[in-house]
Amino acid sequence: MSRPRIAVTGRIPEPGLVMLREAGDVSAWDSAEVPSVDQVHDMVRGADAVVTLLTTKVDDALLDAAGPQLKVVANVAVGYNNIDVAACARRGITATNTPGVLTEATADIAMALVLMTTRRLGEGERVIRSGTPWQWGMFYMLGTGIQGQQLGIIGMGDIGQALARRARAFGMTIAYANRKPVEASIEADLGAVFMSQDELLASSDVVSLNCPYSPATHHLIGATELGRMKRSAHLVNTARGPIVDEAALVDALRTGIIAGAGLDVFEHEPTVHPGLLECEQAVLIPHLGSATIETRSAMATLAARNVAAVLGGTTPPTPIPVPSA
Ligand code: DGY
Repeated sequence: MSRPRIAVTGRIPEPGLVMLREAGDVSAWDSAEVPSVDQVHDMVRGADAVVTLLTTKVDDALLDAAGPQLKVVANVAVGYNNIDVAACARRGITATNTPGVLTEATADIAMALVLMTTRRLGEGERVIRSGTPWQWGMFYMLGTGIQGQQLGIIGMGDIGQALARRARAFGMTIAYANRKPVEASIEADLGAVFMSQDELLASSDVVSLNCPYSPATHHLIGATELGRMKRSAHLVNTARGPIVDEAALVDALRTGIIAGAGLDVFEHEPTVHPGLLECEQAVLIPHLGSATIETRSAMATLAARNVAAVLGGTTPPTPIPVPSA
């Protein structure tokens, strides 16, 4: 019997490739450049499994290009807004993602952004690097302390909870908005208070976005929501860029509607709104949430386990739930 064909549409860490090679014949895109749509479609033709990065759009066109033998699409990311899960399900294709293994790394980056934006660390770094003259001073580059301040977390999944644990260690109090309250024992552990999104926006000193991106969360934070926040508040986004209306955010930062922002993700990645580049009080980093050597290896090997399971006829460890019709 011929071995299954596995196409990998971007570079992934070697431990993942080693596992995939045990499961089938692997052809992997081997460039740091993102392949074009045509290149992706050529790559996946005839594949039994496709391993994707978040830069690969998995839609009907890709599934058509792959052909009817395709059994599994394994995303090497927890977010799966790049995958049309319903289209996969209609064709009997299992879609999987990599939850769990990147929780701590992403929460670290969210906490880092909380500190960077409230303590003006991006601005400070730019002063030093640009050779701008500076001098310690009683009133020089004062930020805001986070001790005793309220962190409002929108999206209390694994990453939101991991961020709450970190923020508690820094003396912050925790409020959260979510589709439904988390278990009472988790709330008690985190000292987290469930509230409506509007209430959270109005009462928090820092608001962190940790919800998945979907049509329901597109521009969840726009001019109206930013207007509800305190003028002294900061916004942190490590989830997905289009959850925030970036033009409205630029406006809010320029006009002092909010005090600052820490962003790991952008609405039109990798393009960043030019207005954000001009805002001193915006900390901007290039989608580094899961970017540690250990985490990326764990993501790749989990994706490989998902592929091996489906090709072997068993249930994969982390299937993406199929949306109800
Ligand atoms: C994810 O897994 O969704 C992250 O954004 C990748 O870093």
